[in-house]
Amino acid sequence: MTDLVLRPAAPADAGALHALIGAHLDEGRLLPRDLADLRRHAARFVVCEAGGAIKACAELAPLSATVAEIRSLVVARDFRRVGLAARLVADLQGRARAAGYETLTAFTHDPRFFIRQNFSIVPHVWVPEKIVSTCRSCPLFRRCTQYAMLLPLDAVTRYGAAPAARVA
Ligand SMILES: CC(C)(COP(=O)(O)OP(=O)(O)OC[C@H]1O[C@@H](n2cnc3c(N)ncnc32)[C@H](O)[C@@H]1OP(=O)(O)O)[C@@H](O)C(=O)NCCC(=O)NCCS
Repeated sequence: MTDLVLRPAAPADAGALHALIGAHLDEGRLLPRDLADLRRHAARFVVCEAGGAIKACAELAPLSATVAEIRSLVVARDFRRVGLAARLVADLQGRARAAGYETLTAFTHDPRFFIRQNFSIVPHVWVPEKIVSTCRSCPLFRRCTQYAMLLPLDAVTRYGAAPAARVA
């Protein structure tokens, strides 16, 4: 496979992020992202490039001083099942720990990938920050079909450090 490089995103990547996320909205039942919002929050993203094109991305979004959420996790179809999403999540775990967060969360319709990354399925009320910031204004509040996933970051210390930035 082409050489793959993980790097933080920059505002100039907003268009590519918008296209990548937009192409997988239905499959991942992802939240649509606005281009201006992506430009504003580009620094929260880590991306994986192959041949100069962004093939995968994930965002670390703060929910409170102690809890951060992994959002907009997408890997292009031709680059799946080689560990790219795991690398992105490991990178964001390292970033979250360095920033002083204690817990990572993610909301998903398919928990299998996050379970492989040591997240646990928890009741939604265990993530009150998410309920306040997003759920209360959602039309599916109290009828949500997503799984709330949680990873205490001290578990990362126990299971090992984030891998190197360049992947084969
Ligand atoms: C989910 C997604 C990000 C996974 O990306 P990926 O790069 O293929 O995942 P990885 O190769 O890093 O997989 C890591 C582990 O999770 C497992 N895994 C990945 N996707 C899985 C799936 N759909 N079902 C079961 N296991 C899965 C892999 O087998 C691997 O297991 P291992 O550690 O035992 O080898 C990718 O399929 C995707 O972009 N889907 C569409 C968008 C989406 O659903 N995003 C998530 C919404 S929260």
